[in-house]
Amino acid sequence: MEPLKQILNKTQFTKDDLIFLLNTSDKERLGLFEHARDVKASIVGKKVYFRGLIEYSNFCKKNCFYCGIRAGNSRYVRYRMTDVEVIQCVDYAWKNEYASVVIQSGEQTNKAFVNKIESLLKRIHRHTQGDIHVTLSLGEQSEETYRRWFEAGAQRYLLRIEVSNPELYKKLHPDNREHDYQRRVESLATLKKLDYQVGTGVMIGLPFQTISDLADDLIFFRENDIDMAGMGPYIEHADTPLYKFRDTLLPLKSRFDLALKMVAILRIMMKNINIAATTAMQTIDPQGREKALMVGANVIMPNLTPVKYRQDYLLYENKPCLDEEAEECKSCLEARIHMAGDTIGYGEWGDSQHYQRRRQDDA
Ligand code: 5AD
Ligand code: SF4
Ligand code: FES
Repeated sequence: MEPLKQILNKTQFTKDDLIFLLNTSDKERLGLFEHARDVKASIVGKKVYFRGLIEYSNFCKKNCFYCGIRAGNSRYVRYRMTDVEVIQCVDYAWKNEYASVVIQSGEQTNKAFVNKIESLLKRIHRHTQGDIHVTLSLGEQSEETYRRWFEAGAQRYLLRIEVSNPELYKKLHPDNREHDYQRRVESLATLKKLDYQVGTGVMIGLPFQTISDLADDLIFFRENDIDMAGMGPYIEHADTPLYKFRDTLLPLKSRFDLALKMVAILRIMMKNINIAATTAMQTIDPQGREKALMVGANVIMPNLTPVKYRQDYLLYENKPCLDEEAEECKSCLEARIHMAGDTIGYGEWGDSQHYQRRRQDDA
């Protein structure tokens, strides 16, 4: 049997298998994509779930070397959305049957922020009579904070590990307690213990990152038994320290191709998790999100952030949809998803099947 088929038939990939799959080209690469497409269709179905994205605030206490809204960048006007603006976004999602929203922001841990998120969660649930599921993407917090937010009604949490190699993590973050790899791993464990649906993810094509690192990232997802994943290509930003390494990077197209392979391989490895077709994919390739859907992704996050804030939430350069209101992104994405041959799960929460299975097993 040819090597690709032999590997795809295995119940569990070794690290060498993952490296082989990440290095595929031509016919083998297409064979990988077709297999991932079939796994998606037969396990989670050809359906895509919307998560309305609310970029709540760009205040951030951290200084990750890759990110445009890092505390050290003074180019952006710092903002925080008002309660009314948040509820307007939620209302839009609710009326349009998105069924879920994601509240994302830079990392803040002060008391006022923690209280504000808690009260917003309660308000959202009151406003929608519990109809809308909420995902939080607000960085590392204490167990107490995670618990309070869970009790106030957050069901899911996204916290990307960014890179699973601790040495590489050190190179991409300042050397202090605020940016500690181990703490991040522990946060993921705490979220799981508290019964959140837990999502994580990585950036692909970072300076100093190798194919072996990416294979380890996939193994990290498997070992941590995650429910959801969001991965995308690294895109350089001129206002960040990593920019000086831009000449060492893979070409954008290769970063995109690797990201697509990561999605396809992860779908085959973890058949029943939710995988996002991320905005960063579309930044490189105009059809990036459709391509991700075609090789295994099943979640999309249409941006609901008021347009006046969008140019101040640039984690990376050339982010799309800066001028498009929620309505425009909605019809744009509907067309894109249709072209990818999928349907939209309007009015469905689209919880990770993996999470549901995990909880049944624990019961
Ligand atoms: N390129 C791509 N993704 C980035 N992120 C931050 N900066 C960049 C960048 N320059 C991602 C991180 C973070 C998520 C919210 O955005 O993975 O977790
Ligand atoms: Fe802050 Fe997140 Fe950007 Fe790091 S990646 S600087 S924590 S917003
Ligand atoms: Fe925003 Fe296409 S997704 S305009």
